[in-house]
Amino acid sequence: MAGVAGSELAAAVARAGGLGFLGSGTMSAEKIQSEYRAAVEAAGSHKSNGVIGIGLLNFCITDEMMAATVACKPHSVWLAVGDFKPFIKPLRQAGIKVMCQVTTMQQITDVVAEGADAIVVQGNESGGHGASPASTLSFVPEAVDHVQQLCKSLNRPGVPVIAAGGISDARQVAACFVLGASGVALGTRLVATTESLYKDSKKQHIVQTGSQASERPTTLRTTLYDELNEDVRWPSGVTARAIRNDFTDQWDGQTPLQSELLDRAKERVKRDAADLTVTSTWAGSSVGLIRSVEPAQSLITHLVKDAAAILKASGQALEDDSLDLGICT
Ligand SMILES: Cc1cc2nc3c(=O)[nH]c(=O)nc-3n(C[C@H](O)[C@H](O)[C@H](O)COP(=O)(O)O)c2cc1C
Repeated sequence: MAGVAGSELAAAVARAGGLGFLGSGTMSAEKIQSEYRAAVEAAGSHKSNGVIGIGLLNFCITDEMMAATVACKPHSVWLAVGDFKPFIKPLRQAGIKVMCQVTTMQQITDVVAEGADAIVVQGNESGGHGASPASTLSFVPEAVDHVQQLCKSLNRPGVPVIAAGGISDARQVAACFVLGASGVALGTRLVATTESLYKDSKKQHIVQTGSQASERPTTLRTTLYDELNEDVRWPSGVTARAIRNDFTDQWDGQTPLQSELLDRAKERVKRDAADLTVTSTWAGSSVGLIRSVEPAQSLITHLVKDAAAILKASGQALEDDSLDLGICT
C-alpha cells in the first residue's frame, strides 16, 4: 500500500509469518532499494519469518523502478491497476514470483495466461483504489472456480487465489478460506497499525469512524480526490473508497468536476489538508470492525490463531450435528 507500507510495516508482517509488501507507488528507484534493504534487515532471520515483497502499480512503473525492483531480488512482486502484460514475464524470468491484484474475470484470464503465480481478488468493499463492482463474498468463489478451470485447460498447476476487500477480523479471514481462498490480503486493518506510515490523525479517524452509528454508509467509492490530484492520473474506471465526510457530501455528486468547480475544490483540499472533514482518508467498508491501532505483528498472529480456532470450531459443530443451518427464502 503506497503511503502506508514502508519497511517497518512490511517487516512486521513478515515477522508474523506473512508476506510483507512495500507499497512503492511513485517512489524513486533509489528509495525502493533503500526501503527494501531496511525491511529485510528489520524482518530479521528467524526461521518462522515470512518474506518481503515489493508492490508496484502497473501504470506508474518506470524502467528505473523496474530495474531497481529486479535488482532487489525480492521473493515476490505485487502488481495492480493497469496493464499487467509488460511486467509478468520479465519478473518471472528474473526468478521473482508475481502476484496480480485483479478486479475482473477477464483480468484473471489474462494474468493466468501470462503465468501469474498468485491472484489477489479485490472486491468492492476494499479501501483505497480499485475497480471491482462485485463484493468479495461473491467475487472470491467465482474467481476460485475460474482459476481452477483455466489452470486445467492450460495444463498448469493450480494458482492460489488471495481474497482482498473488507477483511479486518478473524471471522472474515475464516470465511475467505471457506470461500476457497488460499490466503487474505489486509488493507485498511493494516493501515490502522503502529507501523503504518499513515498519519496518526487518519488512523484515529478510522478507529473512531468504526465506533460511530450512522444512518448512511460511513465510506463511499469516489473519483473526487483523484480528480483533484495533479500528480497521479489513475486509469479510467478506477475509483477509491474513502471515509465519507462533509467535503465528499458536498462534491461527490458533482463529479466529474467542471473547470470552475474543479478549481474551487482543489483550493479547498489544498487549504484544509489536515482537516478530516475535507481531506481523504482511504478506508474499506469494514472500518466498523477496527477498534484500535495495534502493532502489526501481534495483530496478525492473533488473527491467524483466532481464524484457525473458528474454522476448527465450525468443523467440530458440523461433526457434532449441532449446527442449526437456518436457510431462508
Ligand atoms: C491507504 C491505502 C493504500 C493502498 N495502496 C495500494 C497500492 O499502492 N497498490 C495496490 O495494489 N493496492 C493498494 N491498496 C488496496 C489494497 O491493496 C487492498 O486491495 C485493499 O486495501 C483491501 O481492502 P481493505 O482495505 O478493505 O482491506 C491500498 C489501500 C489503502 C486503504
